[in-house]
Amino acid sequence: MSPSLPDGVAWPRDGHLDPELSESIAHRPLSLYIHVPFCRVRCGYCDFNTYTTGFGEGAEPGSYARSVLGEADLATRTLADAGVGGRPASTVFVGGGTPTMLDAAELGEILAGLRGRIGIAEDAEVTTEANPETVTAGSLSELAEAGFTRVSFGMQSAVPRVLATLDRLHRPERMPKVVAWAREAGLDVSVDLIYGTPGESLDDWHHSLDEAVALAPDHISAYALVIEEGTKMAMQVRHGQLPLPDLDDEAAKYELADTILGGAGFRWYEISNFARVEAGETRRVGTELRHASRHNLAYWRDWDWWGFGPGAHSHVGRQRWWNVKHPRAYAGRIHAGDSPAASGEILDEDTRELERVLLAVRTAEGLVLGPLDDRSGIAGLIADGLVEPGPALRGRIVLTLRGRLLADHVTRTLTRDTPGE
Ligand SMILES: C[S@@+](CC[C@H](N)C(=O)[O-])C[C@H]1O[C@@H](n2cnc3c(N)ncnc32)[C@H](O)[C@@H]1O
Ligand code: SF4
Repeated sequence: MSPSLPDGVAWPRDGHLDPELSESIAHRPLSLYIHVPFCRVRCGYCDFNTYTTGFGEGAEPGSYARSVLGEADLATRTLADAGVGGRPASTVFVGGGTPTMLDAAELGEILAGLRGRIGIAEDAEVTTEANPETVTAGSLSELAEAGFTRVSFGMQSAVPRVLATLDRLHRPERMPKVVAWAREAGLDVSVDLIYGTPGESLDDWHHSLDEAVALAPDHISAYALVIEEGTKMAMQVRHGQLPLPDLDDEAAKYELADTILGGAGFRWYEISNFARVEAGETRRVGTELRHASRHNLAYWRDWDWWGFGPGAHSHVGRQRWWNVKHPRAYAGRIHAGDSPAASGEILDEDTRELERVLLAVRTAEGLVLGPLDDRSGIAGLIADGLVEPGPALRGRIVLTLRGRLLADHVTRTLTRDTPGE
């Protein structure tokens, strides 16, 4: 979540959906995102909507589930009134902040409450993010019993010096322990890594990748560090206390990740996301792999999701809205019986099409071109080695490794209004 919400139109206080605008959504899968806006400390690079202190009833660990379930009551009514109720969620993702700042019982209460109101499909993928220092063997097995199927650990790096620059609280030795506990509990495991931290060498990154692979997770996300405006790290860079990340260094690190993860049995399915390939899956594209996150895919396929919690974004049919950012404002709205939406927008066809292109291009299944799509720039993209030639001939744009490094250039070429511009 970015620190400032976009401008949008005033959203109805009762949060109702316009049935005419909710077109065809009854046939698409529904996903649920629950934002938990609490962290023990704020990492210097992070600008997510998260806070290190509680803000009273309904806005702090211990009473937060009640607020989320208040929004779930509103969502249940809203979807039913729009004629699209009764669609159990196919994926649930609890993110943050640090969801495991709530104890396992409170996370379980949220899940049970959503199941009882909106419904969660039997075979749903149910993930929680977790910081390694905030889980125990007991809490992970409680989460599995409550219905979580997957945990995503914020590993970030295996190098103490890099973890220190990132202000992370855990030590590298913690990771094998928490992964073993998650496995014992029967959970699928994903780990998040960050590359390009100031002071991180290529060898450091190599070591982090090796350690991540040694954990034998089902899924690895590798994000290039973004220096977000307004963060402590942005200030350190501005004052010359830390060097600016270097684009060539980032590209070399992404290539190294692709080589090491590819060699260890992982395949990319979105630029930053790699899933473990199971026996019998060798011919599948990344997006079809069993361990590709179905929740991530729902975002990238432009399906529907309801985002619960402060600052959370929702997208149903052509409507998109976002909640007030502060936990206290959020809890206040819910407990007054109002929608927590701050504002929203109705997407027109052109905007939707543009978003479809931007999202699909980043995935391994690629962008399927329509019969009327402008294909004039594609020969140049193939000649530059950015797009796979075979799929392109069949009307599908799939990025090469070089294309993944220059994805913004590819999307600009595909979305420009005037060919040759
Ligand atoms: C917001 S965090 C939530 C999970 C958990 N609190 C954690 O930090 O491990 C989700 C992931 O976003 C990534 N992330 C956050 N800020 C980032 C930044 N400025 N640049 C790149 N990745 C970032 C990190 O890899 C992190 O694991
Ligand atoms: S623990 Fe995660 S969400 Fe919290 S401040 Fe750090 S990166 Fe951001």
